[in-house]
Amino acid sequence: MAIEQTLSIIKPDAVGKDAIGTILSRFESNGLRVKAMKMVRMTREQAQAFYAVHADKPFYNDLVAFMISGPVVVAILEGEDAIARNRELMGATNPQEAEPGTIRADFATTIDANAVHGSDSPETAVTETAFFFNRLEIFDRE
Ligand code: CMP
Repeated sequence: MAIEQTLSIIKPDAVGKDAIGTILSRFESNGLRVKAMKMVRMTREQAQAFYAVHADKPFYNDLVAFMISGPVVVAILEGEDAIARNRELMGATNPQEAEPGTIRADFATTIDANAVHGSDSPETAVTETAFFFNRLEIFDRE
């Protein structure tokens, strides 16, 4: 097992439900430590850039509109197999298909308003963490 970093976003729906603390607690109690964190409200241009990989998808415009509908909490999580572990904790992208007890099963309603985002590979984790955080905002926790 490798120590990895991954980017987590607590999306506007979960922030609006005051679920920030509960979701962070799930990360921390499952071996994912917070190395960086902040609340931001993205501009349309920023959300378009963050999700540029989905620019040709039919859901892109709705996704961007949703992600700028309110503030989000972005965090860098670190731990053993952090990318896969975070995705397990989140559950399936579509909350209707998410395993009971996962974050999306408990807090999400639709595939658009699905509570959280997590990097899907080591390559995207590098790109996504650098999108939101610079070196001075990332803290070693030893
Ligand atoms: P996220 O992990 O943030 O990555 C892209 C997002 O697009 C995804 O979560 C969903 O919220 C949203 N989305 C909407 N429709 C779809 C779809 N059909 N397939 C995948 N993602 C979708």
